[in-house]
Amino acid sequence: MSDRLEDIAHAMVQPGQGILAADESNGTMQKRFDPLGIENTADNRRDYREMLFRSEQAMNENVGGVILFEETLHQKAADGTPFVDIIKAAGAVPGIKVDQGVQPLPGHDGETVTVGLDILAENLKAYYDVGARFAKWRAVIAVDKSLPSWGGIRANAHALARYAALCQAAGIVPIVEPEVQMDGDPGDHTIERCHEVTAATLKAVFNELDEQNVKLEGIVLKPNMVVPGSNAAKQASPEEVAEHTVAVLKRHVPSAVPGIAFLSGGQSDLEATANLNAMNAGHSAPWALTYSYGRALQAAAREAWGGKPENLPAASKAFTHRARMNGLAAKGEWNEGLEAG
Ligand code: 13P
Repeated sequence: MSDRLEDIAHAMVQPGQGILAADESNGTMQKRFDPLGIENTADNRRDYREMLFRSEQAMNENVGGVILFEETLHQKAADGTPFVDIIKAAGAVPGIKVDQGVQPLPGHDGETVTVGLDILAENLKAYYDVGARFAKWRAVIAVDKSLPSWGGIRANAHALARYAALCQAAGIVPIVEPEVQMDGDPGDHTIERCHEVTAATLKAVFNELDEQNVKLEGIVLKPNMVVPGSNAAKQASPEEVAEHTVAVLKRHVPSAVPGIAFLSGGQSDLEATANLNAMNAGHSAPWALTYSYGRALQAAAREAWGGKPENLPAASKAFTHRARMNGLAAKGEWNEGLEAG
């Protein structure tokens, strides 16, 4: 594998492939396991993630990169093989979540800023040595009638750009993730409001990336799709989501960026697939448009597993199916009839 940032970025978003976001912190894993009655132990997290990474068909055909949480980056499968080696053997790039989560942004009621810049340069060296070749930093932009503020957007965009520059200096491709929330509180905003906030956010992010001399050929953008809030009275069809999303991206994302890999953000498995498919089937775009889903790639697999070793094959099958459906959506070749198979 080449060390050039642009080659790594391209490898992550090849046609029909996307990124598996398996970087849930231990706290988030607790939230995912609790409703299924699964105990949140290191062994359970390992067994579950080993099932994902050893799902050969999904990993070989539909996964170009895997985002890991720090624990998993250093973890080994039950037989002692490092997870990083299993991921690389499947032809996927191992990556690492490097932000330290969000904190309230002083002077900005209801807004947060993502933290973790101070220790980043040093951590990146260590992550590189273990095999990580890309990283992820998630900024959260809250939406209601008066939010976000321009100050909130700028603070988050600046942190994203500083993070991206530090990653590239360390030979690591930054996934730049500004998430305009769909499932926040109250989460009842319209698709037009999401459009407006996403546009302002992307504009600020690319301005800051430029000011920090980030090489756009060596990043992957991970935005939200333009969707109504999850509690909005009026929901949108995949065609409407595609129309709004592609329009906003075309206006604000330079074509030097090799790939755009969406977060699922609380969409159902089917919505996330149908929306991505509508973009690729109905629009031409200068960048690869693909997925970097957490929930929408894993929910079915986690449910099928339920913490029971005897269910691991069924879980792997469920994950392989979702990965294949999204791989088809990334080429605009999905239709609902394929779900039955
Ligand atoms: P979801 O697809 O579940 O939103 O997770 C993607 C992610 O990595 C959020 O940072």
